[in-house]
Amino acid sequence: MVTINDIMSYCKRKGLVFPSSEIYNGFAGFYDYGPVGVEIVNNIKNEWWSSTVRNNENVVGINGTIIGNPKIWEASGHVANFVDYLVECKKCKQKFRADHLIEETLKIPTEGMKTKELNDIIKKEKVKCPSCKGELGSVTEFNLMFKTNVGPSGQEFAYLRPETAQTIFVDFKSVLDTTRQKLPFGIAQIGKAFRNEISPRNFLFRLREFEQMEMEFFVHPDKKNECEKFDSVKEVKVNALTAADQEKAGKMIISTIGELVKNKTIKSKWHAFWIGYRYKWFLDLGIKPHNLRLRQHVKTELSHYAADTWDVEYNYEFGWKELEGIADRTDFDLKQHAKVSGQDISYFNEETKERVIPHVAAEPSLGVDRAFLTFVLDAYHEEEVKGEKRIVLKLNPKLAPFKVAIFPLVNKEGMDKKAKEIHETLKNKFVTCYDDSGSIGRRYRRMDEVGTPFCITIDGQTMEDNTVTLRDRDSLKQVRIKIKELQEKISKLVDGEKL
Ligand code: GAP
Repeated sequence: MVTINDIMSYCKRKGLVFPSSEIYNGFAGFYDYGPVGVEIVNNIKNEWWSSTVRNNENVVGINGTIIGNPKIWEASGHVANFVDYLVECKKCKQKFRADHLIEETLKIPTEGMKTKELNDIIKKEKVKCPSCKGELGSVTEFNLMFKTNVGPSGQEFAYLRPETAQTIFVDFKSVLDTTRQKLPFGIAQIGKAFRNEISPRNFLFRLREFEQMEMEFFVHPDKKNECEKFDSVKEVKVNALTAADQEKAGKMIISTIGELVKNKTIKSKWHAFWIGYRYKWFLDLGIKPHNLRLRQHVKTELSHYAADTWDVEYNYEFGWKELEGIADRTDFDLKQHAKVSGQDISYFNEETKERVIPHVAAEPSLGVDRAFLTFVLDAYHEEEVKGEKRIVLKLNPKLAPFKVAIFPLVNKEGMDKKAKEIHETLKNKFVTCYDDSGSIGRRYRRMDEVGTPFCITIDGQTMEDNTVTLRDRDSLKQVRIKIKELQEKISKLVDGEKL
């Protein structure tokens, strides 16, 4: 099995991801994307934006600030509630996240447990410090928000946003006033978020600085079931673990979004639509279906703002864990901001003359970095081809950092000149890679390793008939194709056509 450590060293070796501040021994919870990684990141964000905003005429985007008025976080409940549970070793003073420590030591789930329960378990089961076996102190709450100073006095403080969502709620009125959106509609955003995680771990899975792709979908409170798009997702097949099943230690079932609504496991059609739509996005971009499941939050685990939440989970080496959360946030946030700011942030329907506070029927929220880790993990393969080990990143071509590589067979007889001409034409249309060093076999292997789906070789025959070989990364199939047909063919292949 490919481990997170294998992926971490692969990412560093091939220029996908480096530890941040590496020349100073790094900084826990912070990573930089390298030349190959940044292309994948941009592709993930583009795919999400196209699917969420461009493909849905009633979703618009914003780009808000990381730092805002600190009142935002009082109103949202983050000052009071955005905590993890900290426990310190009395002997070596090392600090741990209490729920993670219990899960790892006792192999029991801790979802939804708070200070008292975690404390009781540590005492009853005599859980010790994993480093020095010393006695642990009492569990305390630890707020995850980073604080910073604003302005020259040093007296004013602010928080770095721990989720992008609140900028959307705070801008809700401005978006309403400047667009012609009518309920139901969504506001989407991609941007940085920061959390002072007690123990950042598992490479890109839990970071202190990361990026989120979030969308708040606002509906009339009485119309959460009036979803004209529901039929488009009702046949989506899902692995699902419901809250009821978890309470009676039941197993994951295979179901469809339609069935989960029919038996009232998912309460509203708009929530179900976005759950199905988002689940399908991962499948369409190549995540293996058996590695994906939906898990409903049990009651004690729900965030302070949520009425119901479903996580899209991935089967990582360290267990099934949240990849994306899709919450029904009700009217909690808009009501809180209206109350604390004293502003009217309701929605007025000109036709019915009705004024309402909309509900967020669904908030799909996905970390860019967690998505990156998951796509790379799922696509990474070590295979044997003709007795030789081949490392290949079988990323969906839409996510691949380079779409096409161009190789002259040799740097003479006009092949290099021809290859450069082809490269010049294709590079305006695709992210390309030109490689003229080493044997063709070695060049193919370099491209396989970074997931380049298509390679073009210019050889002796090209000089005679203006055809090249086009090679497919996954099937290893090679076909001859006319140079003038290359651009159209590659476009179709990137869009899913098979060679
Ligand atoms: N607005 C809702 C919200 O922020 P969340 O479940 O706390 O919900 C949403 O976070 C997503 O953000 C997660 O599913 C995950 O993909 C990503 N995420 C959260 N914390 C993260 C961290 N420390 N490092 C990397 N990604 C994180």
